[in-house]
Amino acid sequence: MIRKTMMKRSVGALTAGALALAVAAVWAQTATAPSGAAVSPVPTPSVPAVTVEAGTQTPAANDPQARLVKQGEYLARAADCAACHTAPKGKPFAGGLPIASPIGTIYSTNITPDKDTGIGSYSLEDFDKAVRHGIAKNGSTLYPAMPYTSYAKVRPADVKALYAYFMSGVQPVAQANKATDIPWPMSMRWPLSIWRKMFAPAVVADAASTDNDPISRGRYLVEGLGHCSACHTPRGIALQEKALTDDSTAFLSGGVVENFLAKNLRGDVTDGLGNWSEGDITAFLKGGRNDHSAAFGGMSDVVQHSTQHMNDDDLSAVAKYLKTLKPVDPNAKALAYDETVAKALRAGSDKSNGALTFIDNCAACHRSTGKGYTQTFPTLALSSTVNSADPTSLVHIVLRGAEMPSTNTAPTHYAMPGFDDRLTDQDVADVLTFVRSSWGNKAPAVTAAQVAKVRKDVGAAPQPQR
Ligand code: HEC
Ligand code: HEC
Ligand code: HEC
Repeated sequence: MIRKTMMKRSVGALTAGALALAVAAVWAQTATAPSGAAVSPVPTPSVPAVTVEAGTQTPAANDPQARLVKQGEYLARAADCAACHTAPKGKPFAGGLPIASPIGTIYSTNITPDKDTGIGSYSLEDFDKAVRHGIAKNGSTLYPAMPYTSYAKVRPADVKALYAYFMSGVQPVAQANKATDIPWPMSMRWPLSIWRKMFAPAVVADAASTDNDPISRGRYLVEGLGHCSACHTPRGIALQEKALTDDSTAFLSGGVVENFLAKNLRGDVTDGLGNWSEGDITAFLKGGRNDHSAAFGGMSDVVQHSTQHMNDDDLSAVAKYLKTLKPVDPNAKALAYDETVAKALRAGSDKSNGALTFIDNCAACHRSTGKGYTQTFPTLALSSTVNSADPTSLVHIVLRGAEMPSTNTAPTHYAMPGFDDRLTDQDVADVLTFVRSSWGNKAPAVTAAQVAKVRKDVGAAPQPQR
């Protein structure tokens, strides 16, 4: 309701609202770690991996300041600060990563402790204002590409540890920030402050959530540092996340990000995590794969740079919390495997273009049973990825291919080739429609028009001429 009153106030406010909406478009598609087609993969920052576990005997163990820095390093990984603040081939946290938007490019900033070009002159309060309130030291509002609407949930004690790490655990790098390429009037920042007042939640206090039980620890990590909802929650009219907490079933029910569907993480049995056990979820976040699926797109980077470095207690807290999320559709029936298609493929009796395209291009890895090879080539049968209503991820992966993350627990990153120069839009539509209706899968057909759109959006090769 705040919005209505504001809009009525004056024509000026109306324009401001319109600008706020327009500027919000900047981060709509990009409120996330850039990955995939547009930007080359974010390199692993050269800061050494660290796991903070009680009882670990390190030189830091006795020095409270050193311990705080170590804790901050761990939290920075859980929050994946490097994903956006480290450019490809750039120095860790020196910024400069281009984030494309429909109205121009914005760049992440230098958050190393360099006094002139970084945040070396920031006090703890300045740092807190940027990270949790979305307000830069000079008072202007940050683009919500910086996920401060999630970080608002980070407790002051953890902000203090992050600050300690960025001030004394990170190498200062002298590298000037790049101005955005956004033309005036879209470049004006004051509409962003209106957006912030409308949509940013209040920041939390230290007592706001506890680590006493794993579920509230998991909620804290998911809503706050992990900023999972920046990708996994659908966006509203002003491109704000439709929900920032689990009071609403929109929360983590799936959003499209950089032409991938960051899918439903709720308890839905067909397209959510209803059939995943807690162990399945932790295996995925730690190793990037499990018996149901393998990470690709933006999630591949999240696993590689962030979740694989989280300790087992935190990962199981995240998993336990995700398992509490009620399904969007509680009446949906679980899918059951059906042998019919596997038999028809083996007998060669299905001569449809979808079936033939599958045999020619996909069956070597995913097999005629659709079951693939465990932990190597993911199953397509009964997969929640395959059964998501929105086929964006599927079209994207078939056109451009994908590569699993390489993780400490699962170093081999198997890849799937792209088929953009081999399959026409109709072939891709047919093979995906076939996959989505075989082996017990039940998802809507994919059309050639949907494929053509994704082909254009992801910059894939033009259709082959036949
Ligand atoms: C999804 C991408 C993303 C992530 C993740 C991210 N940031 Fe940012 N951050 C940005 C962008 C983009 C800007 C610049 C926004 C602007 O110019 O308005 C920014 C700005 C900032 C600023 C303001 C810098 C200044 O010059 O005033 C600070 C401080 C900051 N981030 C710290 C962090 C920390 C600490 C983390 C991890 C806890 C983090 N960021 C995670 C994208 C991100
Ligand atoms: C940068 C955007 C982004 C962020 C941030 C992000 N995800 Fe994802 N996630 C995706 C995308 C895209 C997919 C779909 C590709 C895939 O399945 O790997 C995905 C898939 C997943 C899956 C696999 C679901 C399935 O059924 O296959 C899980 C589990 C998951 N994410 C959990 C999380 C958690 C937990 C967080 C926060 C700690 C998180 N994600 C943060 C983009 C993101
Ligand atoms: C060379 C082996 C190979 C071939 C051929 C192949 N794939 Fe894949 N496929 C993979 C691998 C490996 C992954 C996991 C990629 C990742 O996680 O980054 C994958 C992932 C997928 C996924 C996502 C599943 C999930 O839950 O993570 C779909 C859908 C898919 N493939 C469909 C197809 C289709 C359709 C074809 C034929 C047009 C095909 N694949 C051909 C190896 C292959």
